[in-house]
Amino acid sequence: MAATKILVVDGDPNIQRVLVFALKQEGYEVTVASDGASGVAIAGKEHPDLVLMDAAMPRLDGYAATSQIRAAEKGRRVPIILLSSEASVQQRVKGLRAGADDEIVKPFNPAELMARIKALLARGAAGGSGDGTSGPLGRLCVFYPAKGGVGTTTIAINTAIALSRVLKRRTLLIDANLQFGDLRVFLDLGLDNSSIVNAITEPDLDADLLRELLVKHESGIELLLAPPDPAAADIVAERQHNRPAALTNILKLCRQSFDYTLLDMSKAIDDFNLQLFDEADVIFLVMTADLSCLKNVRLVLETMASLGYQQDKVQLVLNRSNAYTGINVANAEEALQRKVDYQVINEYRGAISALNSGAPFMFSRPDSPLSKSVTAFAQEIDKATLAATRSGRSRAITRA
Ligand SMILES: Nc1ncnc2c1ncn2[C@@H]1O[C@H](COP(=O)(O)OP(=O)(O)O)[C@@H](O)[C@H]1O
Ligand SMILES: [Mg+2]
Repeated sequence: MAATKILVVDGDPNIQRVLVFALKQEGYEVTVASDGASGVAIAGKEHPDLVLMDAAMPRLDGYAATSQIRAAEKGRRVPIILLSSEASVQQRVKGLRAGADDEIVKPFNPAELMARIKALLARGAAGGSGDGTSGPLGRLCVFYPAKGGVGTTTIAINTAIALSRVLKRRTLLIDANLQFGDLRVFLDLGLDNSSIVNAITEPDLDADLLRELLVKHESGIELLLAPPDPAAADIVAERQHNRPAALTNILKLCRQSFDYTLLDMSKAIDDFNLQLFDEADVIFLVMTADLSCLKNVRLVLETMASLGYQQDKVQLVLNRSNAYTGINVANAEEALQRKVDYQVINEYRGAISALNSGAPFMFSRPDSPLSKSVTAFAQEIDKATLAATRSGRSRAITRA
């Protein structure tokens, strides 16, 4: 196994020496930067496993450098410990706002510093969330089609796999297309008996029971499947209608166990789907660049606005963005009077051959252009999630 790499960013040569010595004794590989700006540059190039950052430095102070490292981050978040010379609450809040995970006041006790470093590294390695908060990220994202056949299921599956394999996030994919769920077919799963029917009809559903209903895919993601037949789909719809709390409980348990819970939805606007919209953190509205889709997107956006959702809760994902349809991205944005948030490229062969073999392209051909496009999307999602988690956390601190 490669040695764990720690980047020390500190302007004081004496402290540098002490830290380098202590860290090397513990078996860490150490890189040093003497000011904030070079710290940011080295963090971007060398991808250290942890950063020790002095708060007060020339050129760029530790807070600004921390913010810049966070802003440039794609995917995995490096743990950052700030070394400050003042133990005030304001100082701590400032550090957390900038995106630091921990703070140590100088002069520090080397044994304590080592213990905190180990704790942070262990948290990143164990949780898979590695975001400096304890526990999973608990983000709920739904994928909703502007119309059938735009690629919603394809994007939901492959984004889930990218989050799991590239970003190392614990990821659950729920087939919320009750009547015509495709996940069994797309992932070659056969008629597994456990499904969302069992989850919603179980009166004492808890995390352990739910885990037993999940199906593991070889790519690393877990699944909660759609009902095996249309009659069973009716049971789910009826339960949800009579007791929405049952669905809320399922989703709450999912958030507690997974970094990401993604839902592949049907086109219907019914009670079940409206509840999913409400519970979601983000609604990815999947579309292609054609007139009927644009018309539907406009209608959906109006519906979402009338439900009182914040504008950024709904995000537009333009699939097959480079396919020739006579309508380009700029035309689409002009017609909708808003920007397209994400684009996934068109690659007919890659998508179709993956579909018919039951192996998603993100799993069988992770380096194909289509997979790279979905990976970039997953990275953006993760970045937005971390930003949202952080701002939620610093708000909580300010209130306390
Ligand atoms: N980016 C893409 N490039 C090429 N073909 C795609 C792409 N995304 C989806 N497809 C194809 O479009 C068809 C419909 O996709 P699907 O995911 O089932 O859509 P939906 O769930 O919205 O009905 C499938 O044949 C799929 O392979
Ligand atoms: Mg579908």
